Amino acid sequence: MQGIKVLVTAGPTMEAIDPVRFISNHSTGKMGYAIARQAMLRGADVTLVTGKVAIAPPEFVTVVPVTSAQDMYEAVTSVSNEQDIIVKAAAVADYRPARISEEKVKKSDGQMSIELERTDDILKFLGEHKRAGQFLCGFSMETRDMLRNSRAKLEKKNLDMVAANNLKVEGAGFQGDTNVLTLITQDEDVSLQLMSKEDAANVILDKILSIQKEREEQ
Ligand code: CTP
Repeated sequence: MQGIKVLVTAGPTMEAIDPVRFISNHSTGKMGYAIARQAMLRGADVTLVTGKVAIAPPEFVTVVPVTSAQDMYEAVTSVSNEQDIIVKAAAVADYRPARISEEKVKKSDGQMSIELERTDDILKFLGEHKRAGQFLCGFSMETRDMLRNSRAKLEKKNLDMVAANNLKVEGAGFQGDTNVLTLITQDEDVSLQLMSKEDAANVILDKILSIQKEREEQ
């Protein structure tokens, strides 16, 4: 992959409520970090835009740390045009608090609620601004109707591939070192066995490169 520019996003975003609290998710960053590492080992020029995670980033990649969905949007869109392959493994918040309190929110009796507003969809933006030859891979995590929902994301966001996983399947999802993925493209759904995230990263990269090669030959 020497000479190929790859952008990977990984990890969770954190959406501040006040100086003390935030809304986030269980993403560990392991899947995205594995993709960044394997692409680097293949010689690619890798940029890793990452939310806060507990694991160390791979060596020899350009690391861009971000906190919120808006930070990730800015970091990604400022370098996306020059990328050959973009893999969006990050678990980006779909909503953030409409207002961030400057002071710590104090408790009072009874219930409280937080008004949320939508974040910008980074992947949708990338799909709308995809340049010729660029490959866009999204991730999809579902708890039901995985294939139908994930294929809908492929169409809606103008993606070349969606790596889908069902959180309810043993060995899939956020926390562990394994995943059970289905790679969904325009032409097919490929169901992968349970495997390590490092192996899954290699299968994803192999699939992307083989589709790109097919397209070049057409
Ligand atoms: N994504 C993104 N920007 C967002 C939200 C998600 O780029 N603001 C990306 C993720 O990195 C992932 C993909 O979109 O690659 C997930 O698609 P999404 O539609 O967010 O999936 P869900 O949120 O799981 O969909 P839904 O809420 O419809 O279940």
